[in-house]
Amino acid sequence: MKIIHSINKLQKELRRGRKKGLPVGFVPTMGFLHEGHLSLIRRARKENKVIVVSIFVNPAQFGPNEDYKKYPRDLRKDAALCKKEGVDYIFYPAVKAMYPEGYSTYVKVEGLTENLCGKYRPAHFRGVTTVVSKLFNIVRPDTAYFGQKDAQQAIVIRRMAEDLNMGIRIKVMPTAREKDGLAMSSRNAYLSPDGRSAAPTVYRALQLAGDLIKSGSRDAAKIKSGMRKMLSAAADKIDYISIVNPEDLKDVKKIKGKVLVAVAAWIGGMRLIDNIEVKA
Ligand code: PAF
Repeated sequence: MKIIHSINKLQKELRRGRKKGLPVGFVPTMGFLHEGHLSLIRRARKENKVIVVSIFVNPAQFGPNEDYKKYPRDLRKDAALCKKEGVDYIFYPAVKAMYPEGYSTYVKVEGLTENLCGKYRPAHFRGVTTVVSKLFNIVRPDTAYFGQKDAQQAIVIRRMAEDLNMGIRIKVMPTAREKDGLAMSSRNAYLSPDGRSAAPTVYRALQLAGDLIKSGSRDAAKIKSGMRKMLSAAADKIDYISIVNPEDLKDVKKIKGKVLVAVAAWIGGMRLIDNIEVKA
C-alpha cells in the first residue's frame, strides 16, 4: 500500500492500472476510520482490482463555527487499518494542493441541498460536491462507495454524478451501528460520557417511527411528534426530525411508499445525524 500526497503522482500511478483495464474502487473519507468506512472498503475490495481511499478533512464543507480544526485525525491508525483491508493507495493531499491560491470553482447541486442538513449547514453540500468532484476527477474511479448514514450526501452525490455525466457508479452501503444502535461516526469519539449514554436515543426515535409506519400510521406530523417527545428527553437541541421522499428530499405529510426518516440532534456537545428508510 502506498500513501500518496501528490495529485500528479496518484494520477500517474492510477494510469497504469487503467491501461490494463483494471476496475478502480474509490472510498472518499475524512479519516479517523471506523467500522462504517471499513465496510465500504471491504465492498470496494470485493468488486474492484485497484482500491483508493482518500483521507482529506475538507475545509470547504465546514461552516465558520464548525469543528474543522477539532475534527479527529489519526493517519497512522488509518493507514494500518487500510493496509489490513488490502487498500492499494491512500490519497492524503494537503489543503494547499486541493485548494491552491486563486481557487475559485465550486459545484452546487440545487433542489436536494436546501432541506434537512442543508437548512442548518448552508455551505456544507457545496463543499462536499466540490471536493468529491475534484476527487472523482483525480481518481477517475469506476465505482465510488458512500454510507447510508449520510443519506442526503449520497443522494446529492448520485445526482451530481448523473447530471455531470461522470460515468461513475455510486454505491451506498448500510449504516454501521454500535451494539446499542448508535450510528458509527468519527465524531462519536468526542461525545461526553453522558452524551454517549444518551446518543442511542436518536436511533430509538427512528425505530419508533419505523414501527409506527409499519403498523399503519400515515400521518407524518403525528409520527414526528412522538419522535420529538422521545428525543427531547436526551437531546440538548434538535435541528430537525423529518420524514421526506427519498427521491427529492421534500417533506411528506401523508406517508405513501418509501420514505426517509431523518434526524439531526445535538447530544453531549456533538451534532448527531441518522436516518432510516421505511416502506409503508
Ligand atoms: O462523508 C465524508 O466523510 C465527506 O463528506 C466526504 C464524502 C469524504 C467529502 O469530504
